[in-house]
Amino acid sequence: MDTRLQIINPDAFMPKELDTACQILKNGGLVAFPTETVYGLGGDALRTDAAACIYKAKGRPSDNPLIVHIAKADDMEKLALSVPDSAKRLAAAFWPGPLTMVLDKSELVPYGTTGGLDTVAVRMPAHRIALELIRRSGVYVAAPSANTSGRPSPTRAEHVWEDLNGKIDYVIDGGRVGIGLESTIVDLTGEIPMILRPGAVTKSMLEQVIGRVEYDPAVISRDIREDAAAKAPGMKYRHYAPKGKMVIVEGSRENVVARINGLVRQKEGESVAVIASQETRECYPGAEVYCVGSRKDESQIAASLYDVLRKMDDLGVKWIYAESFDSEGLGQAIMNRMFKAAGYCAVDADKG
Ligand code: TXA
Ligand code: MG
Repeated sequence: MDTRLQIINPDAFMPKELDTACQILKNGGLVAFPTETVYGLGGDALRTDAAACIYKAKGRPSDNPLIVHIAKADDMEKLALSVPDSAKRLAAAFWPGPLTMVLDKSELVPYGTTGGLDTVAVRMPAHRIALELIRRSGVYVAAPSANTSGRPSPTRAEHVWEDLNGKIDYVIDGGRVGIGLESTIVDLTGEIPMILRPGAVTKSMLEQVIGRVEYDPAVISRDIREDAAAKAPGMKYRHYAPKGKMVIVEGSRENVVARINGLVRQKEGESVAVIASQETRECYPGAEVYCVGSRKDESQIAASLYDVLRKMDDLGVKWIYAESFDSEGLGQAIMNRMFKAAGYCAVDADKG
């Protein structure tokens, strides 16, 4: 398949520049596009054939449901059997934005989109291109992250191209995305709202709007076996995984630096990289260091993490030693993705 690429400046574009992409969506084709979180691979959410093409292009297991993207909050009424008051309040507070809500699905949504589940995940993205694409095409857009299944999600169109060129119809290059980690997923179908995937909308932000919210146990677990029990089917698969073996090193700053330097020395002659913060990047003279940003600005770390993991793959790095980060706020999402990337392999540098 011939994949076409269109470059669009998200801050200055004419809606009609999206006409080709809209036409492709309307015809059941696939368009990758930027959102504020990561790039999505879009297709018509109400067409089983389009959903099937998405699964095929990504190499994704078909029991792993897709998020349906909308451009008007009220459209969730059409996709959901009923919309609880909590969903309305969260939509008013965080949409458009990096929040996905799981609701009981209506008849309209085919099982081919929901991976056979009776629930549907809905999100209204906060990216001008994404919103205009959905609005103008008139299509509810099913969109997983636009990566090959198992690879880090794409934060730049180049990542999409690497994974999906030749497998989809169209890629809209809207530059780097802002957030860099996938949306928060909250399940509103049970008694207590449950976070199935942490993201930029944090637990305390949700609680300020709807009161008590809990994490699905798999989210805060440090055990790979818990993944299998995850409520978001996608969270059970090995995820965000670099090709090299990644180890997270926790502890005080001095101990982490010392331990990582020790680990690096043990692998002398092999291809080793260190994921470090701005504050400590100079502390590893014997290693190839990849800085993800300053500890004072977690949004920088979130925005560069997947890009750095992909670079490691490009360079064929065999061993990756990563500093760990605070797990408050956005840090919860950062550490969740890092632990998954590492297959939960971590060492405590404070212990001998
Ligand atoms: O930020 C995002 O959410 C991005 C952009 C493109 O919007 N999309 C994204 O989609 O991350 P994807 O398919 O890579 O991840 C969706 C996750 C999967 O883990 C899937 O299992 C879960 O959402 N999910 C989807 N529908 C669900 C449902 N009905 N119940 C539980 N989990 C669901
Ligand atoms: Mg994904």
